[in-house]
Amino acid sequence: MRSKIVAGNWKMNKNLTETEALLVQLSAKLPDTDAEVMVAPTFVNLAAAVRTLDSSRIEVIAQNMHFAPNGAYTGEISADMLLNIGVDTVIIGHSERRAYFGETDEILVKKVVAALENNMRVMFCFGEELEDRKSGNHFNIVESQLKNALFSLDVSHWNKIILAYEPVWAIGTGETASPEQAQEMHAFIRKTITEAYNSGVANKVSILYGGSVKPANAKEIFSKPDVDGGLIGGASLVADDFAAIIKAI
Ligand code: 13P
Repeated sequence: MRSKIVAGNWKMNKNLTETEALLVQLSAKLPDTDAEVMVAPTFVNLAAAVRTLDSSRIEVIAQNMHFAPNGAYTGEISADMLLNIGVDTVIIGHSERRAYFGETDEILVKKVVAALENNMRVMFCFGEELEDRKSGNHFNIVESQLKNALFSLDVSHWNKIILAYEPVWAIGTGETASPEQAQEMHAFIRKTITEAYNSGVANKVSILYGGSVKPANAKEIFSKPDVDGGLIGGASLVADDFAAIIKAI
């Protein structure tokens, strides 16, 4: 059985006071579900979030990390720093990191390997841009993103990988992939992993959908057989909305 996962990527939102308040609200409203629930606050509030959620089943995860173990990388955060405050899952490859901070496949593969070497779980994000979808190139793009960052990993590492398909045109735009488009791509991702590894790996990996998931559309998207949950941006910043999305799984 694959894990069902609903994760909130808070991006560069919520100061410390707001972070603690939102987590308290969310804990109070957390629906009773078997799904794993995760939140990714900004780096400076991770330790406080871990403390606030001490007895909660909500997991605190990081939005990014550097691949080096330590050293002269001003402004960066290492795996050890995350682990030391109790964070052992990290988002890698978000399209905003790729678009605004120059993160290439070469950099991402180093980050993935560094996280896995530290026994962390990786939530790997990928997805095509609007032009790719319009030109019918979306399957090729997704396949190459997966291949370049993940397909040189040893098969044994795949139990630490979570995938998040986030079509760039659906992020923060209010335009979501239709449940059929999400299912079609998730099935394609599983087929691609089956070809690169085997069906055991492909059927065990959780594949989340991200891009304008809201309470109103979550249930239909999550009902698709290859969609194992969601990576939620804007709607995860409102306790009622995020709780409703968790309920939908
Ligand atoms: P939105 O839900 O705001 O579209 O963001 C999705 C996302 O980028 C999550 O990582």
